[in-house]
Amino acid sequence: MEIRTRRLLLRPWRDEDFHPFAVMNADSQVMKFFPTVLEREQSDALAAEIRRRMDDQGWGFWAVEIPGEARFVGFTGLNKLSKDLPFAPGIEIGWRLAHRFWGKGYASEAAQAALELGFLQLHLPEIVAFTAIQNLRSRAVMSRIGIVFEGEHFEHPGIAPGHPLRKHVLYRIKNPFTASQPR
Ligand SMILES: CC(C)(COP(=O)(O)OP(=O)(O)OC[C@H]1O[C@@H](n2cnc3c(N)ncnc32)[C@H](O)[C@@H]1OP(=O)(O)O)[C@@H](O)C(=O)NCCC(=O)NCCS
Repeated sequence: MEIRTRRLLLRPWRDEDFHPFAVMNADSQVMKFFPTVLEREQSDALAAEIRRRMDDQGWGFWAVEIPGEARFVGFTGLNKLSKDLPFAPGIEIGWRLAHRFWGKGYASEAAQAALELGFLQLHLPEIVAFTAIQNLRSRAVMSRIGIVFEGEHFEHPGIAPGHPLRKHVLYRIKNPFTASQPR
């Protein structure tokens, strides 16, 4: 499954994406709200896992391209929640773009399209988004596309107790197309 938006193409991953993905994951600005930057091997393993899930499901974290301008700017899409998260099972929406593509509305444009696919084609009842409390840019994307923060916090089980990035915020949006209508 591919998605076209006004300026972007969300598409399956290619081998050529692994290098720019690794460069992005080695950038401390991009990885500021993750415990560490990724080494090349870790980045390749993550890309392979993302691609495996896309192949299995037909959807996932799509590679994002700006047709005619940039072959790989990052990823945006949907993902099954890791079982160890306190609000699992469910589906999350997530994004990560190379720094030079920030500030142009690309993440929100891609995420809006992924959200619509999740609701209209996959008929998901709800999509969640989460990030470290301090990640205001990511939280702004969530709000911009209508995902709502109602004060839910959790301790991310993958981050060590006491680590400043362990405390996360949880945003939620229900499927507006299947929500029960008032009688
Ligand atoms: C999270 C992340 C994707 C957000 O990127 P972003 O550039 O802030 O978000 P958008 O792409 O939606 O762009 C919005 C900005 O573009 C501006 N913009 C410029 N042209 C625009 C256009 N044509 N349409 C919409 N917005 C536009 C908006 O005004 C806004 O600017 P502001 O941040 O100064 O208010 C990015 O910071 C990132 O990759 N971070 C690292 C990875 C990460 O933390 N991921 C989340 C982990 S859960």
